[in-house]
Amino acid sequence: MYHLRILIYTGKGGVGKTSVSVATAMKCAELGKRTIIMSTDSAHSLSDSIEVPIGNTITKIAKNLDGLEIDILKELEDNWNEIRTYVFSVFASQGMDEISAKEMAIFPGMEFIAALFYLDRFSKNNEYDLVVIDTAPTADTLRLLSFPDVADWYFQRFYGVLKSFVKVARATVGHVLSFPLPTNEAMQEFERFNLRIKEVREMLINPEITSVRLVTNPEKMVINETMRAYTYLSLYNLTVEALVINRVYDINSKNADPKKLREQEQYMGLIDEIFQPLKTFYAHQYTLEVVGSEAVKRLASELFGDTDPSTVYSRENPMKIISRSGSTTIRLKVPFATTDQLELYTKRDAIIVDVGQYRRTIALPLGLYGREISSAEISDGVLSVRFREEMYAAKKRKRSEQRGNDKGNS
Ligand SMILES: Nc1ncnc2c1ncn2[C@@H]1O[C@H](COP(=O)(O)OP(=O)(O)OP(=O)(O)O)[C@@H](O)[C@H]1O
Ligand SMILES: [Mg+2]
Repeated sequence: MYHLRILIYTGKGGVGKTSVSVATAMKCAELGKRTIIMSTDSAHSLSDSIEVPIGNTITKIAKNLDGLEIDILKELEDNWNEIRTYVFSVFASQGMDEISAKEMAIFPGMEFIAALFYLDRFSKNNEYDLVVIDTAPTADTLRLLSFPDVADWYFQRFYGVLKSFVKVARATVGHVLSFPLPTNEAMQEFERFNLRIKEVREMLINPEITSVRLVTNPEKMVINETMRAYTYLSLYNLTVEALVINRVYDINSKNADPKKLREQEQYMGLIDEIFQPLKTFYAHQYTLEVVGSEAVKRLASELFGDTDPSTVYSRENPMKIISRSGSTTIRLKVPFATTDQLELYTKRDAIIVDVGQYRRTIALPLGLYGREISSAEISDGVLSVRFREEMYAAKKRKRSEQRGNDKGNS
């Protein structure tokens, strides 16, 4: 059965995300997979790396290989014009000039969200076997990976409010509001947006389809950031399946700095300790930059040898909901986080988990609405949130609902 495979490479600035993404895509195309490489970093560098001009429309690079550098203004105009026009008009109604309104309607990293919509299209049309996504440096990407998750939660509220405004305004035929109302077309587009983002989310959290690979270097600061990324990606339900250790100095090289080599040895040990059992790929520090197809092929062959780079190396989903005789526990992999970093807030239909500066909204399954949390702890890199048994309360509520219905029917 056909399904799309999605590889997302992420990591700190300059670690080699673009080079590794290009190497992966080229190798897979050579193996006969219909491949596309998409850059979601607004400072695009795919073209420089491959030495083939790639535009803001799908561009053929080689046999089985296409490329796309996402241009957010173009995407908004082509696909979300009603929403774009509406959002501009809201800003403009608040006295903002047109240019500033356009700026305001775009937030950093929106290229990544545009890329998500391409995934939906590629998958439906069976256009590609593999999509490789080269992302912007970590922080933006991490924040945006949580977008599909959070979007739905906010959408329900925002859209509900908009809808009731539209209703009131139509009934009173007056200018009750100080900002413009969306057209019917815009409302439909909002709905379509939400529906599609939900579908994309299903793809993103399915480890058979989507894998995130962390690109790192054997350096202290880089390792720290990689570690944080691992925690937060797990919070967002994405499967981190592999680690790419790039720029490893060759110990046999005559002109290598001995101090640097000693440090590296120490950091490689640290990486091993922290990230096992993740699958790891290695590449050396080369004397020249990775530019042009020969250099990219060399990198690919060092990273992947004769193996298929799109292999699924891990199928473990970082979040599990375990229900056993009335009690439910949500278990979430949060590598490296500790209980003292954890803050938890509850709403009726969601819990909000803060780990350090990151926040994750977990929409609860219906059965857990309004349930009290009896304990929350992090141990061995797994956050367990246990919900209080509510057999008695549930039964009582059901009985009173039943009585209400009986009355209504008679
Ligand atoms: N193993 C390597 N040896 C030598 N040079 C490398 C290696 N890997 C990448 N480079 C070079 O380092 C520079 C940065 O690499 P690259 O653009 O792939 O990183 P990036 O993580 O995508 O950076 P950014 O965060 O800016 O997007 C490029 O000039 C690239 O050719
Ligand atoms: Mg890059």
